[in-house]
Amino acid sequence: EANEKESMYLVSEFAQKYFHSTLLNTDEGKAIGYSYFKERGFTKETIEKFGLGYSPETWDAFTMEALGKGYKLEYLEKTGLTIVKEDKQFDRFKGRVMFPIQSMSGRVLGFGGRILTNDKKAAKYLNSPESDIYHKSKVLYGIYHAKQAIAKLDNCFLVEGYTDVIQLHQAGVENVVASSGTALTPDQIRLVNRLTKNITVLFDGDAAGLRASIRGIDLILEEGMNAKVCTFPDGEDPDSFAKKTSHDELVAYLSDNAMDFIQFKASLLMKEAKNDPIKKAELIRDMVTSVSKIPDKIKREIYIQECSRIMDISEDVLFNTLAQLVQKDI
Ligand code: CTP
Ligand code: MN
Ligand code: MN
Ligand code: MN
Ligand code: MN
Repeated sequence: EANEKESMYLVSEFAQKYFHSTLLNTDEGKAIGYSYFKERGFTKETIEKFGLGYSPETWDAFTMEALGKGYKLEYLEKTGLTIVKEDKQFDRFKGRVMFPIQSMSGRVLGFGGRILTNDKKAAKYLNSPESDIYHKSKVLYGIYHAKQAIAKLDNCFLVEGYTDVIQLHQAGVENVVASSGTALTPDQIRLVNRLTKNITVLFDGDAAGLRASIRGIDLILEEGMNAKVCTFPDGEDPDSFAKKTSHDELVAYLSDNAMDFIQFKASLLMKEAKNDPIKKAELIRDMVTSVSKIPDKIKREIYIQECSRIMDISEDVLFNTLAQLVQKDI
């Protein structure tokens, strides 16, 4: 109910201030958290803008502080900030740099917390659990700080991670949000759809989840939006790339390398199929299925022509396959 949610927002806001102040004003926060962000190239201004913080390496310092200030254990537990086990209370986040996750209107919904080492055994990011105020599949990290730029520039860059969003902002590219590691959902796409019809997906250069991400991008087309993609050199993600380049180089790279999604997918699948006829037949169905999801008939036709050229298949065959698929929808 409304009052419960409001109490959860208030405790989250308190946590954000607590972590932020721990980062800036305690010896541990300064020595560990602040210097970590400095090493990543984040300026003081950036740290302030995104309200970044640090959770101390203790069992319950945050929980005790919150209880002392009169916040109720019930809401600390419901937001996942405190874990209650056998009547004992523990802080969820310990010894991590903290990224507050904000709604479109700027309210704090939850947190991502990153460990400071590159220890492959530990989970790199720990996130707030799902709650009445934090629905992972309905949130885009950075949307509060990006919304004006997205509307003004009529384009939205979509990246994977927290640090990609932040580093791009610092480099002067502010129309950027992150899905934060989850596969893109229709609710997330609709959030952007309120601001622009154009999404450009920026992939990590590791190519690992490329096929998986591609399925997510089909959803952008299904919402009637335009999708482009842009890849980065091997081993780079938008964060590491932006850190090395100037604002002008970054903007030029993004505009020179943004490629229409359908063309990108067709070329990628073609490379995989090589000359295997069975694989090629599969990929034709796959491509035409993507095209069939585009609500606009004229756009569908143009894409069929493009696919015909890229995949070296007659337009007739593609149009017939498309007709069958679109028929099924009706
Ligand atoms: N993620 C997560 N839990 C993990 C790994 C990743 O929630 N164990 C989410 C985070 O939102 C992260 C995003 O997926 O930002 C992208 O993952 P990855 O590319 O591995 O992380 P980076 O953002 O590049 O993190 P960093 O540069 O700090 O290593
Ligand atoms: Mn501040
Ligand atoms: Mn990645
Ligand atoms: Mn990454
Ligand atoms: Mn990264």
